[in-house]
Amino acid sequence: MVANKIKKPIGVFDSGYGGLTVLKEIVTVLPQYDYLYLGDNARSPYGTRSFETVYDYTLECVQQLFSMGCELVILACNTASAKALRNIQQKDLPLIDTNKRVLGVIRPTTEIVGAYSKTGHIGVLGTTGTVASNSYPIEIKKFYPKMIVHQEACPMWVSLVENNEIESDGADYFIQKYLGLLLKQDKEIDTIILGCTHYPLLINKIKKYLPPSITILSQGEIVADSLCKYLEQHIELEQKCSKGGVVEFYTTDSSENFDKAASFFYGKAVKSKHLEL
Ligand code: DGL
Repeated sequence: MVANKIKKPIGVFDSGYGGLTVLKEIVTVLPQYDYLYLGDNARSPYGTRSFETVYDYTLECVQQLFSMGCELVILACNTASAKALRNIQQKDLPLIDTNKRVLGVIRPTTEIVGAYSKTGHIGVLGTTGTVASNSYPIEIKKFYPKMIVHQEACPMWVSLVENNEIESDGADYFIQKYLGLLLKQDKEIDTIILGCTHYPLLINKIKKYLPPSITILSQGEIVADSLCKYLEQHIELEQKCSKGGVVEFYTTDSSENFDKAASFFYGKAVKSKHLEL
């Protein structure tokens, strides 16, 4: 087991690099806490994997973060939030430790969508797994039963980001393609949720192919604000989280490779350690 220096960090988990776009916003809003980021790069992407596999991998990583001192873990991955969170919260946490908490990125996003949409017609873009899980429509309906939700899977977008093809013509092609397929479903869509950690990195090109009347919701800031409120409302948990402003990074794959790519997602240099699960 890898020994981390910090005592009770907030754990932030993702299948790989994508959750760094979420961590970046969380650290900006809540710089006082310690954080431990775990990217399961050795087994990413999760987006095309089965429900069972995503659940098994995510649970293993959450338990790892608990064993490293985390009392609170954020699943900063849409696919893991869609396919594993519910089971972990309802089935596993009561057996592991009833005081520990695991939160996802879907609920905070769906909760606030009503503040942006006038037509009540929402578009959701995500990985194949997130879309197939129907988590976004289900969660949105809980808060806004009358909203009409359409989804489109964008299986090429994660690859475009990870292969540094954002500026290529290929990116334009696939961005136009999936946005076209989404908008074709319903002309009244006025709010689009970027339901994948990688999509904010494509925002300039996404904007290029959408009318300015459509609001695009990126999750990083939304999740950060929601965590802020959560900690204010859960004082006992908040008091347990250590406050040293230290951020440590772990990857299940090569730390050298992780550090090379991670700065693009995190916005600054990252020095990670390898973790063997
Ligand atoms: N982090 C994943 C998500 O937000 C995208 C990458 C993957 O498929 O593993 O859904």
